[in-house]
Amino acid sequence: MKSICIAIDGPASSGKSTVAKIIAKNLGYTYLDTGAMYRSATYLALKEQLTEKDVDAILDLLAKHPISFGRQEDGTQSVFVGDKDVTLAIRQNDVTNNVSWVAAIPEVRTELVNQQRRIAEKGAIIMDGRDIGTVVLPNAELKIFLIASVDERAERRYKENLEKGIETNLERLKEEIAARDYKDSHRKVSPLKAADDAITFDTSGIPIEDVVQFIQEKAQKKIDSLS
Ligand code: DC
Repeated sequence: MKSICIAIDGPASSGKSTVAKIIAKNLGYTYLDTGAMYRSATYLALKEQLTEKDVDAILDLLAKHPISFGRQEDGTQSVFVGDKDVTLAIRQNDVTNNVSWVAAIPEVRTELVNQQRRIAEKGAIIMDGRDIGTVVLPNAELKIFLIASVDERAERRYKENLEKGIETNLERLKEEIAARDYKDSHRKVSPLKAADDAITFDTSGIPIEDVVQFIQEKAQKKIDSLS
């Protein structure tokens, strides 16, 4: 059976990673969380107290501590920089609140996009992020752009953070999500936007299973049309 590349883009907490992980498992595809890569670069930059002016130093750190993914016993994905497990560290507030400036550095994007394309070379991949359909995989056979209201996204992230033991204030979370949306959508390089050929899906009030089913039906149609 032929395999396809699936691009899932959208703002923070729109459900991208949750649905992408389920679909990857159902189809036997590789899942790549590109946000985790920008978060890992941010983790490295903050550890060395770097700023947006220290572009070469950030690139050096990325070369010295390559980002990789592993699998925990329960099947969840782990993220490493070099041999350090940063799965939890990259979800902490300091990383979340600094990732937009790191992700806006063109040289960092070029490096990470190259890595993402290399991972996608074998096909059978589902990748989530902000610029997958527009920049990383413009030829992806299926492009989905997930959106949801700020209130709903903040509530989802709040619950996730509680489960991970990350202390969070819901009102502040709403402000931070809106601020990150603005920065991600207004940066000069690869801003968050739907590709012209993407299907936009508003997930507000829609159960995850229904979002998964919608995307998976579209994916199956594409796969069948190629086989
Ligand atoms: O999906 P996330 O919230 O973990 O992503 C973290 C940040 O990384 C997000 O605020 C924007 C940036 N990002 C990006 O610029 N391009 C991507 N393909 C993925 C994430």
